[in-house]
Formats: sequence, structure tokens, C-alpha cells
Amino acid sequence: MKVTVSLIKADVGSVAGHSVVADELKTIAEEMLNKAVEDGKIIDFRVFNAGDDLELLMTHRKGIDSTEIHGLAWNVFRKCAEKAKEMKLYGAGQDLLKDAFSGNIRGLGPGVAEMEFTERRSEPIVAFMMDKTEPGAFNLPIFRIFADPFNTAGLVIDPSMHSGFVFEIWDILEHRRVIMKAPEEMYSILALIGCKSRFVIKRVYPKAGKLPTDEPVAVVSTEKLYQVAGEYVGKDDPVALVRAQSGLPAVGEILEAFAFPHLVSGWMRGSHNGPIMPVPFRYSKCTRFDGPPRCIAAGFQICNGKLIGPVDLFDDPAFDYTRMRAMEIAEYIRRHGPFEPHRLSAEEMEYTTLPKVLEILKDKFERI
Ligand code: 13P
Ligand code: 13P
Ligand code: MG
Ligand code: MG
Repeated sequence: MKVTVSLIKADVGSVAGHSVVADELKTIAEEMLNKAVEDGKIIDFRVFNAGDDLELLMTHRKGIDSTEIHGLAWNVFRKCAEKAKEMKLYGAGQDLLKDAFSGNIRGLGPGVAEMEFTERRSEPIVAFMMDKTEPGAFNLPIFRIFADPFNTAGLVIDPSMHSGFVFEIWDILEHRRVIMKAPEEMYSILALIGCKSRFVIKRVYPKAGKLPTDEPVAVVSTEKLYQVAGEYVGKDDPVALVRAQSGLPAVGEILEAFAFPHLVSGWMRGSHNGPIMPVPFRYSKCTRFDGPPRCIAAGFQICNGKLIGPVDLFDDPAFDYTRMRAMEIAEYIRRHGPFEPHRLSAEEMEYTTLPKVLEILKDKFERI
């Protein structure tokens, strides 16, 4: 039987600037989703926060892009935003960029990662939630998980994964997509996704073997707030779902890709490069210079659509070294202050508040 997992998120207001989601908002979300379970709309759910982003993880049988499920998430965010306004929380309603819901939450501000698949005899899944960065931050780890034999031993030694995986890559600037196979098109895949602000991995599919080739095994949210709002309103803090084991990378191979704190764009004012730090749930609170960017990982088993978990997967001393390295990199790069490459490239800064400053300076120039 098929199950749909929907991870839908929005920043609807936070406590102490862009730090964390208020408990009051999480309570509202939990109450509303509990009601939805009672009404038989969804099978199960969990509410999380990744820093200042409110995360709704839901399971149901309605497929992806369901008006009912998207409408439910929209109503939860709207209710939470109302409360956030009442409490004068920071950035109340930040990611709810449009007023009217017309059947699908995509394009209204919130981020969406959802996939429908046939539940296996045992179905492990990991939900990743990032704060203070953008969808392209997932390019490197998702590539490593499904295409790098130095990360994922199963690509080499497990016959059911040996033929590789299929990547669906989106060009989020030109609104087009391309399907590419690893390992045979690995260099072409990297030619695109190395440019992480433009080309993002949207989904991964199995190539051959025991899993259906038309059911995704990983999905990433790719919504860009700037494209909806036309001005800087916050970063597009992304989420992803990755299925594990039995013909797919093991949970440990999936997490291994996060042992390297790679540089992502985001951090202060969405305008800086910095290391992504994998943290336990309790540390998903961006404090130093509104960062450095964070990633949490919630592990589950799905049982007839019910969620067993979460397991706080980065709550492990084995990731202490990664966190220390992230802080070394943070310290190093922070010393650059307003200089590139700490500050984003001019091209990426177009989507921040910098152009407004450049506009003021325009008339001071003279020809040389
Ligand atoms: P088990 O033998 O404990 O199931 O582990 C297999 C595996 O995939 C470890 O990465
Ligand atoms: P968020 O995108 O998490 O709201 O952060 C915005 C920001 O400007 C942080 O400095
Ligand atoms: Mg915010
Ligand atoms: Mg955020």
C-alpha cells in the first residue's frame, strides 16, 4: 500500500529575532494536526522546529500536491502566524507571502518536500531540516549519499545498489529540469549541481533492482522566497526526506555525508557563506551571527503509515568533531567581515538588501 510523507515548513515568527519558534506556536500546530488525525485526514504527524522554522511532518494516503493536505498545512501556518502577530514575535507571518490559498501551498512561501511510495516490509526514513541556508545546501550531501562510493559503501558492495541512482535536477532560475544517471553521467551532474544557487537536486530515484523506479527515494524542498516576494524576506531554509536501507543507502551512510561541514550560503541576513553544522534538536538555534547554519536529522520507521520515532540522529558525540571543525571554519571565515567570499558573490547579493544600498550610492560616482 502506498503512503505519502509530507514535510512542509514555514517561518511564521520567532523568539528573540530569528532564533527559535515559540512553544505557543508548536502547541497550536500540534492541536490542529491532532484534530486532523481524529478526522482521518492524516495518519500521523510530528511537529519540529529547525531554528525559527516551523516544520510539519505528516503521513497520509492522499498523494503529493493534495489540496486537502496543503490546505491543512496552510491553515496551521495561518493560525500560528496570527498568534505570532498577537505575541509580537519577530517576523510574524514571514514566509506566508500570499493571502489566498488556491489549492496548492507551493508558490505561497512555505517549503515542501513530499513523496509517495509503496511502504516496504521495513521502511526507515530520515527527515532533514536546515535553518539559515538555501535548498542548494543539500546538493553536496545528497550527491554523496547516492553517488559517491567514498561515502556510501553500498554503491560498491551491495548488488542491489551497484547500478547507481537517477537524479532529477532543477534549474530554479530558468524553471526547467533534467534527469541524469549516476555513475555514468556523474561529471555532468556535478557540472550542474556545483552551482548550488541555481541547480538543485529535487529528487532521486532508484535505477534498477527491487524498488519501483518511478517512486522517489529522496526529495528536497526547492522553493525560493525571493522569486515569490521579489525582495529579501529571509532565506529559503530547506528540508529533505531520504529513505534508507534494503537497496538504498544505510542510515549511517546517509548521515556520513554530513560529517563534513561544507560551505553553504545563508547565515546572517541570508548574505554570507558559512559551514553547515549538524546538531541535535536542542541546538537548532542560530545564535552566533545568526548562525552558523544548522541541520537536524529526525529518523523514523514507518509502520502502516504511522511514524515510529523520532530519533535525534545528530545527537551523537561522533559528530562532535564535525561541529568543532564547523566552528573553526566559522571563526576563520567570520574574520573576513563584509569581504567576499564570506559575503556572498555580487550575483547572489542581488537577492538581498544590498542593491538598495548600491542604489543610494549610484549618484556619487563620476566617469573615469
Ligand atoms: P545490520 O547487519 O545491523 O542490519 O546492519 C547492516 C547495515 O546496513 C549496516 O550499515
Ligand atoms: P531566516 O531565513 O531563518 O528567517 O533568517 C533570516 C535572517 O536574516 C537571519 O539573519
Ligand atoms: Mg526568520
Ligand atoms: Mg529560518
